[in-house]
Amino acid sequence: MAETARRGACVFGLTWGDEGKGKIVDLLCPAFDVVVRFNGGANAGHTVRVGSESFALHLLPTGVLRPGHTGVIGPGVVVDPIQLIEEIDGLAKRGIDVSGRLLISDRAHLVLPYHKLEDQLSEQAASGSTRIGTTARGIGPCYADKMKRSNAVRFIDLVGDSDLADHVRQIVAARKGMLTALYGSDGDLDAEAVLQDIAVAKDRLAAYVCDTTSYLHGVIHSGKAILFEGANGMLLDVDHGTYPFVTSSSTGPHGLAAGAGVPLTQVTRLIGTTKAYTTRVGSGPFVTELKDARGDRIREAGHEYGTTTGRPRRCGWFDSVACRYTARISGVTDIALMHLDTLSGFDEVGICVAYRLDGERISAPPASAAQLERVEPVIELVPGWQEDLRAIRRFEDLPATARDFVQRIESLVRAPVSIAGVGPDRAQTLVRGPIQDLINVTENQAV
Ligand code: IMP
Repeated sequence: MAETARRGACVFGLTWGDEGKGKIVDLLCPAFDVVVRFNGGANAGHTVRVGSESFALHLLPTGVLRPGHTGVIGPGVVVDPIQLIEEIDGLAKRGIDVSGRLLISDRAHLVLPYHKLEDQLSEQAASGSTRIGTTARGIGPCYADKMKRSNAVRFIDLVGDSDLADHVRQIVAARKGMLTALYGSDGDLDAEAVLQDIAVAKDRLAAYVCDTTSYLHGVIHSGKAILFEGANGMLLDVDHGTYPFVTSSSTGPHGLAAGAGVPLTQVTRLIGTTKAYTTRVGSGPFVTELKDARGDRIREAGHEYGTTTGRPRRCGWFDSVACRYTARISGVTDIALMHLDTLSGFDEVGICVAYRLDGERISAPPASAAQLERVEPVIELVPGWQEDLRAIRRFEDLPATARDFVQRIESLVRAPVSIAGVGPDRAQTLVRGPIQDLINVTENQAV
């Protein structure tokens, strides 16, 4: 294996999530020993197609689909234990056993029923323009508790000797008062029911809980390679995304140092995924959104419905302004341009090359969501391609117009497109450049 394979790599989304990270992680897996989730929770939805089977994972690292790979849930992830147990059981029913190769950080926080309730009630209470359109998985309230500290529950509390029952009863009593005061309902929250979930979590998950940070340092020391799997996408990043219409974690490679306890110096390849067009679920500004038949056509051709919530995704043209911004922040070394096949059949394909705000041309997204709502995209229409790309296996075999489209994106985003997706299967992936050391599509076909 080439030298690059012995160092870490990170796969993350350059836009608003759903960019095909699961497929890229799955393809990279054979070159790595351990796959780590470092941010987010069950708001993520990674779909991987293996042969004729499709797997949708929310909390489990995609790497566990590969026999012999270890999956790690790092300290930065917020874990809904019941959802995790359902995922583990769902895989077991399909013949994939994760025992002995799933590790959950003792520092990770638990998402409990009151987090999900608060997420739902606060969204219901918000008016149209302030509603974030969350996945209602309790992500924001759990991260808020983590930052506030006194109300948090971590896996170490579950397996340690602290008196969790009393602590949880106090949290629930306080939360009932808070929810009633703010939203006029406490959703019949019941401390004993929460404790019941915690008992199930302890019974089923305690065996997986450990100090994953020490474990990962041992992995590095022994010369093994780690793949970091970002969740959501960089335009949803709590610091750099389209705030406040973002998630509550650090979604790019910058999140892995905090969320996994591994320094960034261990990571050599930063693989940012995006589609050849753009999608967004939930509310918030979306400069290149197509609210016409072209957007509907992309949605149907690309099956753009949420893995986590089933919501139809909003669709629009590729936004090079947003991608250049996230490419710079992340230091992306390779772009994985997914769903190139979905655009087949358009006479012309749009690329947003600049923004116009109140008549002025700007080249980076403004911080204000209100301003971003007012931004108009400067769209360059380039010739499309009519060919079905799904049987193509090499970049050089793409139709000339598709190759020009890829080249235009590279020059606008200022990073190389090393991977292109031309269909959902592992084999439907074009790879070029140094990243070929890490992805052998032919070998992957046999897995
Ligand atoms: P939350 O993460 O559930 O709090 O949702 C905040 C925003 O992020 C909403 O607009 C969600 O739709 C969006 N979001 C969170 N995770 C993902 C993801 O994995 N893919 C796409 N959108 C996401």
